[in-house]
Amino acid sequence: MTVVPPDEAGLRRAADLLRADSVVAFPTETVYGLGAHAFSEKAVAEIYRLKNRPSWNPLIVHVAGVAEARKLAAEWPDVADDLAARFWPGPLTLVVRRAPHLTVAGAANDTIAIRVPAHDVALRLLEASGLPLAAPSANRSEGLSPTTAEHVVRGLPDVPLVLDGGACRWGIESTVLDVAAGAPRLLRPGALSLRAIREVIGRVALPSEQVADGSARPSPGMSKRHYAPRARLVLADTIPERERTSGLVTLDDVEGAEVLGHDPAEYAADLYAALHRLDDRGVATIIVQRPPATEEWLAVHDRLNRAAAR
Ligand code: TXA
Ligand code: MG
Repeated sequence: MTVVPPDEAGLRRAADLLRADSVVAFPTETVYGLGAHAFSEKAVAEIYRLKNRPSWNPLIVHVAGVAEARKLAAEWPDVADDLAARFWPGPLTLVVRRAPHLTVAGAANDTIAIRVPAHDVALRLLEASGLPLAAPSANRSEGLSPTTAEHVVRGLPDVPLVLDGGACRWGIESTVLDVAAGAPRLLRPGALSLRAIREVIGRVALPSEQVADGSARPSPGMSKRHYAPRARLVLADTIPERERTSGLVTLDDVEGAEVLGHDPAEYAADLYAALHRLDDRGVATIIVQRPPATEEWLAVHDRLNRAAAR
């Protein structure tokens, strides 16, 4: 494992590895991704192996722009154009029908998830490699996503190269929206708010009921347990007084707690980092003060509920 700065030499080294069907971790505006040539069977298999990712969980393909995205799609609906024009590059992943000649990255169904990342290093890597890059979050399956290069090093020590671009700005994964058929449907709430999406396309259908693990699912991020720290995570409406043995994550100022505040975007930006810090302290339990039950907290609730699932 080598961590390098994203200068010209670092990017060249990363691009060489990707063209040789190996993998590279790189920063995006959401979380660090574990990148590989999206249509190389060997490279994609390496992602699944390193992450210990179940084969039913397909990957997001990162491309440099809308033109490249369209080449991967069998159909490019008007809503995709409207959304891409407004939000790309940015933390929105679109699920569209996959071009029939592409078989590797899309797993079993006939769709493909695509996004254009809003991060200079990611965009320069896409350009330097000249490849569409499949990139799940650079962590072991079910674990906490990495928001710094150090998180990647500790979580996936066998990755040959990490481009260090500092801390990720959003700190929570992209919003995944299915526009492949019928009304646009939210598959995973994320960094881009529903309100912003509705301003462009109107109504958005919300995630359907929980799908049992292992069975066919519209979006694998929907598995019950995911985004989990090593410690047991418990959600609580009030924080027990004088709690000393557990790690604490709060909205309000509490002595000794990871205080994340009342702004959902700022909260999300530091959530994984706070959970990583508490895991590093070796606490057995993390008590998280439940955030407000309003829609702007949807992505945070989604991650916390899955992290607390057992
Ligand atoms: O912010 C992000 O999206 C990060 C950065 C690295 O770009 N990537 C990421 O990838 O979070 P991953 O693999 O951890 O999550 C992929 C999500 C899953 O929740 C899965 O549901 C969805 O994308 N997905 C991928 N392909 C899909 C498809 N064909 N249909 C439906 N959902 C798909
Ligand atoms: Mg992930």
